[in-house]
Amino acid sequence: MSSKIIRTSDPQMKRILEIAENVAPSRASVLIQGESGTGKELLARYIHTKSNRASKPFTAVNCAALPEGLLESELFGYEKGAFTGAEQRKVGKLEIAHQGTFLLDEISELPLPLQSKMLRFLQEGEIERVGGLKPIPVDIRIIAASNKNLQELVRAQKFREDLYYRLNVIPVEIPPLRHRPLDLDLLSEFFVEMSCSANGLAAKKLDQEARKKIHQWRWPGNVRELQNVIERSVLLTPSDTIFADDVKIEGFIQSQKNLTLHPGMTVEEAERLLILKTLEYTAQNRTHAAQMLGISIRTLRNKINEYKMDLNDGLAAELVNDSTQGGAL
Ligand SMILES: Nc1ncnc2c1ncn2[C@@H]1O[C@H](COP(=O)(O)OP(=O)(O)OP(=O)(O)O)[C@@H](O)[C@H]1O
Ligand SMILES: [Mg+2]
Repeated sequence: MSSKIIRTSDPQMKRILEIAENVAPSRASVLIQGESGTGKELLARYIHTKSNRASKPFTAVNCAALPEGLLESELFGYEKGAFTGAEQRKVGKLEIAHQGTFLLDEISELPLPLQSKMLRFLQEGEIERVGGLKPIPVDIRIIAASNKNLQELVRAQKFREDLYYRLNVIPVEIPPLRHRPLDLDLLSEFFVEMSCSANGLAAKKLDQEARKKIHQWRWPGNVRELQNVIERSVLLTPSDTIFADDVKIEGFIQSQKNLTLHPGMTVEEAERLLILKTLEYTAQNRTHAAQMLGISIRTLRNKINEYKMDLNDGLAAELVNDSTQGGAL
């Protein structure tokens, strides 16, 4: 287990921590969105620790982990005899978490009937056990987390709009690790240090090429993935310096600069491949990629649209990195 402290040098993350600290004492619902492994649960715990509920329980339930019926029992509990097999009363987790903080993790996976029930709870401050006759007042602070875009799910009618607004009082979007270059360095170093001391090893450090390699990868698993990669590198590198080759990243194309062109390919296919490879090489930085390709960023953008390249990070990377174009799409 890693330390529970959120480490960051990233200005956007610092701003998020500030917001978290400011809203922590209130009861306002917080909706934390961000890719897998970006630190959503860590942030939820941080808010809890900074609140005046810190001495009360922090409970997390993953809405994707159980089928609807079991999830309902888990959250709301049931009375004896509520259904076949309900041999005795079960108190739900929401009720047990009274006065504490409750993380509804992967909220996008909450089935629609439970969304209605959750909304009722948020409005009334009372829960009803399954088969229960009277509502029970419960005081908890709700934090919801999602790695899917909830607003899109609302648009697609897969998530209740009213519940979305109830949860989204304080919205927080944790940026992916690849858009936090300062954190790539800070967290890499931190995880090297941590892995060394946790394993009783003498201090090691990453050499410059290793750092560079870390910046080239897109880290789809974010901080969790980085931590695993670094731990593995620390354990598998006997020397006190970790070189680029010691940093083994699954899916990382070693010969990033090489392209495989062959007769039979169309010019369009070759161009598409070159653009994709260059974007991969620049960690989706379009400004940098356009420079390398010798085309304008506008041309690059058009080509990406034309070839319908699947680059869901491209836009964000561009907004972060492209100060010259004002980020217009
Ligand atoms: N800024 C950070 N500093 C230190 N450790 C971090 C940081 N961000 C994340 N971690 C660590 O990375 C791991 C993943 O974080 P966490 O579980 O909070 O992510 P998540 O967004 O909830 O992921 P998922 O979407 O997969 O549930 C944890 O071990 C956490 O402690
Ligand atoms: Mg999580």
